[in-house]
Amino acid sequence: MFRQVLFLLVLGFLASTTTASVKTAEGHQFLGVKPCYDSSFDENVPTVKTYPRPYEVMNLADLPKEWDWRNANRMNYVSPTRNQHIPQYCGSCWAMGTTSALADRINVKRHGSWPSAYLSVQNVIDCADAGSCEGGGQLAVYRYAHETGIPDESCNNYQAKNQNCTKFNQCGDCGFRGCLGVPKYIKYKVGDYGKVSGRDNIKAEIFKNGPVRHGSCCILQLIVRPCGIMVSMALLNYTGGVIADYQPKLMIDHIISVAGWGVDDNETEFWIARNSWGQPWGEDGWFRIVTSAYKGGSTYSLGIETQCVYADPLL
Ligand SMILES: *[C@@H]1O[C@H](CO)[C@@H](O)[C@H](O)[C@H]1NC(C)=O
Ligand SMILES: *[C@@H]1O[C@H](CO)[C@@H](O)[C@H](O)[C@H]1NC(C)=O
Ligand SMILES: *[C@@H]1O[C@H](CO)[C@@H](O)[C@H](O)[C@H]1NC(C)=O
Repeated sequence: MFRQVLFLLVLGFLASTTTASVKTAEGHQFLGVKPCYDSSFDENVPTVKTYPRPYEVMNLADLPKEWDWRNANRMNYVSPTRNQHIPQYCGSCWAMGTTSALADRINVKRHGSWPSAYLSVQNVIDCADAGSCEGGGQLAVYRYAHETGIPDESCNNYQAKNQNCTKFNQCGDCGFRGCLGVPKYIKYKVGDYGKVSGRDNIKAEIFKNGPVRHGSCCILQLIVRPCGIMVSMALLNYTGGVIADYQPKLMIDHIISVAGWGVDDNETEFWIARNSWGQPWGEDGWFRIVTSAYKGGSTYSLGIETQCVYADPLL
């Protein structure tokens, strides 16, 4: 109850402020709104592994120095940038990151041929049992994709709200007689899915299979480490370039997706990642952040390598 009241207060505050402050919606987690990544949804979620992961069989020394699925041999494989916060604030990063990464992997598996995948985040919120606009998990989304499958965006367009999993919300359409469920539609399913962490392992996973989902950093820690506020502000205020934020104490509370890596003019290695805060944020909705190779540890990369998951699309 207290949380809901606080949430409404924050919504009210957001509604009354400028677009610049809207970007700080995630930052209000430390005021008592639940983080959009809620790892409790991922507890006891079984994983499926029927063959070795790329990092178990690849020679990691063969990985290229740079890789970007947005421009891989002049082809784009990534799905559109989204905004979880419209038409109202919704803590759905967990559904955004997982479905965007899965859509990218579908595109990679189809070699970029039509149609480009665009999955229904609203269906996942309504039906996956993996979370809500008050936060959710990532493995739990892939369990849903494994067991049931995720439909196209056009089955249930994003509305940024919690709904029940009715036939209409699974995949619907409206006519003069009202709104009904559609009986037959594509459900994108996954086979193997599980967790992956570590710099080279994630690289191998991205290189072979397309973007990995994962959690990134850290606003809750700001409560206990005021210097941390600067970090969250740096990510919230991010407008471009390669971020390196010293954060020795991590609290993963947000989900984004990583689609590549690169090296800047100073030989600093970075991850290329997509957020779900709309195109105006960052580099057209994307950002770059140092890998754990930077100064020899993960204290500057906001935990981006610590909690990743993957799922292999079945096509
Ligand atoms: C879901 O269904 C229950 C039971 O019918 C109802 O009480 C609740 O308000 C519904 N929730 C939403 C978000 O529509
Ligand atoms: C973040 O952006 C806000 C609004 O533009 C600004 O007031 C604040 O100083 C910025 N903070 C940092 C650390 O850049
Ligand atoms: C390289 O390092 C210099 C000096 O620290 C800095 O000014 C410059 O922005 C860096 N370049 C890149 C691409 O990060």
